Amino acid sequence: MTYPVHIRSCWSDLPKCLAQAGLNGRRFFIVTDENVARLYLEDVQAALSPFFGHMPHFILPPGEAAKSLENTSALLTSFARAGLDRSSVVVALGGGAVSDVAGFAASIYMRGISYITVPTTLLAMADSSVGGKTGIDFIGIKNLVGSFHNPCLVYINPAALKTLDTAQYISGLAEVIKYGIILDSGLFDYICDNRAKIAAQNPAVLEKIIRESLRIKSEIVTGDEREAGQRRILNYGHTFGHAIEALCNFSLPHGHCVALGMVCAANFSHNMGKMTMFHVEHIKNLLEFFGIPVKLPKGLGMTADDIYNMMLKDKKVRNGALALIISHEIGTVEIIEGVEKQEVLRAIGSISRDSSLCSE
Ligand SMILES: NC(=O)c1ccc[n+]([C@@H]2O[C@H](COP(=O)([O-])OP(=O)(O)OC[C@H]3O[C@@H](n4cnc5c(N)ncnc54)[C@H](O)[C@@H]3O)[C@@H](O)[C@H]2O)c1
Ligand SMILES: [Zn+2]
Repeated sequence: MTYPVHIRSCWSDLPKCLAQAGLNGRRFFIVTDENVARLYLEDVQAALSPFFGHMPHFILPPGEAAKSLENTSALLTSFARAGLDRSSVVVALGGGAVSDVAGFAASIYMRGISYITVPTTLLAMADSSVGGKTGIDFIGIKNLVGSFHNPCLVYINPAALKTLDTAQYISGLAEVIKYGIILDSGLFDYICDNRAKIAAQNPAVLEKIIRESLRIKSEIVTGDEREAGQRRILNYGHTFGHAIEALCNFSLPHGHCVALGMVCAANFSHNMGKMTMFHVEHIKNLLEFFGIPVKLPKGLGMTADDIYNMMLKDKKVRNGALALIISHEIGTVEIIEGVEKQEVLRAIGSISRDSSLCSE
């Protein structure tokens, strides 16, 4: 990971950052979604156009619906119609869904052109804007098709979080808390100590947790860009979480599903005698303080078996054996290969509101 990451609470520094990265004279194409277009497209275009001229754009539907092959195809068509060439740069302005699909389209257009990420959700600022994973959902399976393609620059304007709704904000917080649990008890403690300021979006505290999350992510990703080993620990809570996300048809935000997965992983770890109940409760209490779900919302109609069976479809399943990432205490993590079905079902039971999930 050798690209610059700028955190500035304005749009006006964006042209300077692009110029510093040697991107002057390039042709740009903005990809965004309907909500972000309404809120920030004009501001971003106003900041850039005096220096970079007119920028064509493409507006995706908001949320997970953006990540389809049809949208990728429409996006590639727009790139071609706008005359983008190998030196052109795609600007992904939006949350993780926008950068996943825009980055994927950039990675395959003319065998790969540059893109930059301008994240507008906390999840994207603290996580998905770096690391180079791009992708779309396919035949109902999340991120089944994609590529590894690093952005050439990341520009984060935390002031954009003011317009984000609470459900999406806490979805991003779940990923930030994940970084604390897997690798940095100092970050976890910092979040606990500053929980009220984080809830109130205090700018200095926000910048600190975004920087720390990106630092941890880049430390892990560097040296394992293609997820052959260490990078897999970033999927903490995700094997459970992705299954829940797919089963509820993406009606819950990504981070909420990851949080439910983290509660399962913590209980799994506890059941194996590797994490004390004190730490399990500590994690749950922090999530609950922010209103992040620790139990499956009512009415989703999924059983523990449904979740388990969906987990087996995860890309990370190798030769039919399910691997889980679990933390011991806060700040340390282990990958367990070939876990027992009954133990997984038991862990899933911990997020159940009633006995209906605890099927045997
Ligand atoms: N590539 C990676 O490394 C990586 C990592 C984590 C997650 N992801 C992916 O990211 C996606 C989730 O991304 P997300 O959580 O950023 O959600 P998102 O991109 O789906 O955006 C969520 C909603 O917030 C709206 N929105 C975005 N910014 C806003 C703002 N500033 N103000 C008001 N509304 C705004 C969007 O229009 C959308 O309705 C998932 O598909 C997940 O798989 C990718
Ligand atoms: Zn995630």
